[in-house]
Amino acid sequence: MSRLPENFLWGGAVAANQLEGAWNVDGKGISTADCMSAGAVDKERIYTDGIQEGVYYPNHEGIDFYHHYQEDIAMFAEMGFKCFRTSIAWTRIFPQGDEKEPNELGLQFYDRVFDECLKYGIEPVVTISHYETPYGLVKKYGSWRSRSMIDFYTRFCEVIFNRYKDKVKYWMTFNEINCISLHPAIPTGIRIGTDENFHQVTLQAAHHMFVASAKAVKLGHAINPDFKIGMMMLYPQTYAETCNPLDALKQMQAMDMQYYYSDVQVRGYYSSKAKKMQQALGVKLAAEPEDDAILREGKVDYIGFSYYMSMVASADLNKQVSGGNMLKGIKNPYLKASEWGWQIDPVGLRLTLNNLYDRYQLPLFIVENGLGAIDQIEADGSICDDYRIEYLREHIKEMIKAVDEDGVELMGYTPWGCIDLISAGTGEMKKRYGFIYVDRDDEGHGTLARSKKKSFEWYKQVIASNGEKL
Ligand code: BG6
Repeated sequence: MSRLPENFLWGGAVAANQLEGAWNVDGKGISTADCMSAGAVDKERIYTDGIQEGVYYPNHEGIDFYHHYQEDIAMFAEMGFKCFRTSIAWTRIFPQGDEKEPNELGLQFYDRVFDECLKYGIEPVVTISHYETPYGLVKKYGSWRSRSMIDFYTRFCEVIFNRYKDKVKYWMTFNEINCISLHPAIPTGIRIGTDENFHQVTLQAAHHMFVASAKAVKLGHAINPDFKIGMMMLYPQTYAETCNPLDALKQMQAMDMQYYYSDVQVRGYYSSKAKKMQQALGVKLAAEPEDDAILREGKVDYIGFSYYMSMVASADLNKQVSGGNMLKGIKNPYLKASEWGWQIDPVGLRLTLNNLYDRYQLPLFIVENGLGAIDQIEADGSICDDYRIEYLREHIKEMIKAVDEDGVELMGYTPWGCIDLISAGTGEMKKRYGFIYVDRDDEGHGTLARSKKKSFEWYKQVIASNGEKL
């Protein structure tokens, strides 16, 4: 007997800009992700002003899913995927972002992708905006600094909701919306000057995104009442370093900044604490009188979140720092870390599920989880990624406990980068998450041939047994 619901959505997750490639094909415009150079664990990606000659941009080719989607989706089907989380590249549909009419060739591409999924009974789960904004909107309007973005975004939503209303049921409005307070360029393309109040810029942009998201939820439900439209956050499970009450306070404050985002999208208003936080940070939000009603009427149906690692908070500021793309914290002596310094913590996933469910009582969806690692190809072509299996196995065990023993309502689980793709944080190819290996390196060399790793067969049996055979 399985401890997970019968209809549990097992699958995998990707984002358009990290795998599609074809960055300038069939009318696609330039997105912010197209302007990100290659980096490394100790080398930040540079966000260039448009496309510059002589710079290598790994997302331009990605893994060329644009031309390989049939082969890739067939492999997902072979693993038994019930769902496939991807995003729609905004610039395929609106190349500059502010056009009146969409680009038909871009729309057709996603028709083909969703049809291919549905052919195998795979449910598409779509992130509307995953770490890419039309660069045209950044240049012309300053991206989400501007209230006019709300209309461009809702027009984009209107077009894709109408077009795919019979193909896609599960949506998320913005990927990891709370990342705007950590690294604004990645989710929004906004550059912040040293003379500006960082929080004023990011929380104002976030306000516009909240209003846009709420409008999208209302619009989506009007177009198809069966739509399930969620929010999506990066969940940084955080511990107090000691039982010193001051460490506990730091821990609470670290999480407050993350809950700022989910509270508004789930509850439909700014809490009294959120308003106090704005004041303390010197933020004065410019809002319109109708915004309160829009937020109230556009509450999300579920919470999608990513979970990779946990963090430690301390009142002592002179502590050793451990990495993440956007998060910096203190080393946890009880945990091992990945080669990129991400602290591996399966129990933290159970805590995360409990924290979110206790707080909101909304269905949850783990839409990203996984281990970025360097894979070795053996002489016979096999890839023995036991470390990845181990990571996923331990996280799935804790996920099942949260459902079975703690009563958390969980819709599904889509490990990140089910097929190798470009890392968002570093732009590397060698930081691999997939069950499927793609022959491509950090300089863009390789045949792009796909092959199965050991984890492929392992995940297939996990899905077939609904999580019982781990
Ligand atoms: C999440 C993002 O933050 O983490 C993904 O939603 C990203 O886009 C993933 O790829 C893993 O991060 P990285 O830097 O290893 O690609």
